[in-house]
Amino acid sequence: MKKNKGIRYVVKKDGKFWPSDVMKKVVNMTDERIYDKAAKNPVKFWEDLAREGLTWEKEWDKGYVEKLPYFKWFEGGKLNFSVNCVDRHLSHPDRVALIWVPEPTKEKPIKITYGELYNKVNKFANVLKENGVKRGDVVSIYLPMVPQALIAMLACTRIGAIHSVVFSAFSADALKARIQDGKAKILITADGYYRRGEPEKLIDKAKKATEKTTVKKIIVVNRIGKKVKGKKFLDFDTELEKADSYCKPEMMNSEDTMFILYTSGTTGKPKGVIHDTGGYAAQSYWTCKWNFDLHPEDVMWCTADIGWITGHTYAMYGPLLTGATTLIYEGGPDYPDPGRWWKIIQDNKINVFYTAPTAIRMFMGVDSKWINECDMSSLRILGTVGEPIDEKSWMWYFNKIGGGRCPVIDTWWQTETGGTLINVLPGIGPFVPTVSGKSFPGTEHVIVDNKGKPMPKGRQGFLAQKSPFAPGMLHGVYNNHEKYVETYWKKFKKMYDTSDGAYLQNGLIRITGRTDDVMKVAGHRLTTAELENAIHDNKLVGDCAVVPMPHKIKGQVPIAFVVLKKGNGSKKIEKKLKEYVDMKIGPTARPGKIFFIEDLPKTRSGKIMRRILKALLIDEEPQGLMTLINPDSVGKIKDVINANKGS
Ligand code: WT7
Repeated sequence: MKKNKGIRYVVKKDGKFWPSDVMKKVVNMTDERIYDKAAKNPVKFWEDLAREGLTWEKEWDKGYVEKLPYFKWFEGGKLNFSVNCVDRHLSHPDRVALIWVPEPTKEKPIKITYGELYNKVNKFANVLKENGVKRGDVVSIYLPMVPQALIAMLACTRIGAIHSVVFSAFSADALKARIQDGKAKILITADGYYRRGEPEKLIDKAKKATEKTTVKKIIVVNRIGKKVKGKKFLDFDTELEKADSYCKPEMMNSEDTMFILYTSGTTGKPKGVIHDTGGYAAQSYWTCKWNFDLHPEDVMWCTADIGWITGHTYAMYGPLLTGATTLIYEGGPDYPDPGRWWKIIQDNKINVFYTAPTAIRMFMGVDSKWINECDMSSLRILGTVGEPIDEKSWMWYFNKIGGGRCPVIDTWWQTETGGTLINVLPGIGPFVPTVSGKSFPGTEHVIVDNKGKPMPKGRQGFLAQKSPFAPGMLHGVYNNHEKYVETYWKKFKKMYDTSDGAYLQNGLIRITGRTDDVMKVAGHRLTTAELENAIHDNKLVGDCAVVPMPHKIKGQVPIAFVVLKKGNGSKKIEKKLKEYVDMKIGPTARPGKIFFIEDLPKTRSGKIMRRILKALLIDEEPQGLMTLINPDSVGKIKDVINANKGS
């Protein structure tokens, strides 16, 4: 049975894929001149876009103000984000805003219309107010993929509270650190969620995380029917039902902080990336319009969790800003069978599908009957994000999921950039495997050497962004000005340092990956330092180093080298330390393997030579041994690795 016929949105010409005439007819943006037009006056370009795409209470006085390392978009402008996502679509109250697919197949998907969403967001905004939340307060959200997550986030934006969403698979310790940084008085969480057929408890982690913190009230979504008792706890849906049905939207300054989202930095402590209101909204709206070509009648499915920026911008906010329908799915990608995702696409007639290379690589390994059985002719555009995608996976995605008819848009961006920044537009092309594309109109990236000088065309260098900085860019690191300066503004003069490497291929940007010690593990961002800190905290550990190792599905996995305070390592201690990482950060950070060694290779000044460990792992000859104070350690480590081969 071959069902993935559908409309052909792509044609092959001169060995490259381009938008077909049909695509050009339906798509929002087809004019290649848009790049030059935007480059002539980027500020005016974004001002025009912001005016056209968003609803403002008051227009700004100045489009862009820059005083590095800070800059503001639409200064003096006033708007409310929830009004832009919900109220202004009330001319079509019955259009579906959100489709929620629960994991258990016996539960039916739930559809929430814009009218219903309006009602719920207003009510929950009142719940927050009744519980003392004020404009500018931080609200922590620790929720799985349930509709209440979207309602809670939007309700915060309605009253001008700052949301700080923490990924539900993070541990109690990780949640606590984030709550403490933001000093939240309210935590919104759930009793649990379903993952691979089992109810996964969340509430115990939430309870533990809030001990001895500023949190006074915990609002709990009842998802798995667990009884939660105590004065501190409120039931999400009960409170929502009781609340008044209108909440006047708080008019915010464009540059007011809308949310914080923590991400791994180069040290052990996660950074609270600050995003504003108007600039973020403008970039979210227009990237959805032009990259994903969202029309109000479209259904978009971005598989990212709301705990990450991709979930914020493309599973929630972007599609709603454009008035389209967004789908979110609670559970595991291959539950109850590897056909689950493709069946969701079929049953909900998904038009735009956005996922990570790591998921694509996972599905490449399963029997293709699960895919061939599904009718995915509704698809028009496919997207990827999070890490470089290799040619084989790109082609598989293009052919198997897109039926060779849909462009694959490889979007480069970061938690810090708020929305996508480098990719090919579907109405313009070309779609080239492994190549991300051009800077979004009105933004500019350059490839430079470590002094900031442009590299010769085609040579690999550092990817930097030039002024005026994109409207969705971060506006600082929460409570940490120094970190903000040091991480993004120190390396180059007047340019934002992305920490990625890249080169130009026929005028298009190809990303080569991080140039710092950030790993991408199954698309998740993790630093070696963060993991080393966590392992180091364990009382058995004397010293440790973590390095990434290439992995067929996950892209990279962290490998730990541990020197114990006393005694030898064992399978039991390895398991213990892995569980310890689960507790400190969460299972996404769990090392793939822990090697117990006598000594780490170090320089005379005590610096750990991770480069050498990396080489040993991939069976390469390690270089620079003469700088080591303990060159003997290298041979011994190699023996340990060899002895563990195959385990
Ligand atoms: C890092 C940012 C923002 C979306 C999710 C990741 C890598 C992201 C691509 C891409 C190659 C990519 C970069 C970047 N990355 N997209 N299309 N091709 N690499 O956000 O967790 O903040 O990670 O992800 O290395 O710096 P994040």
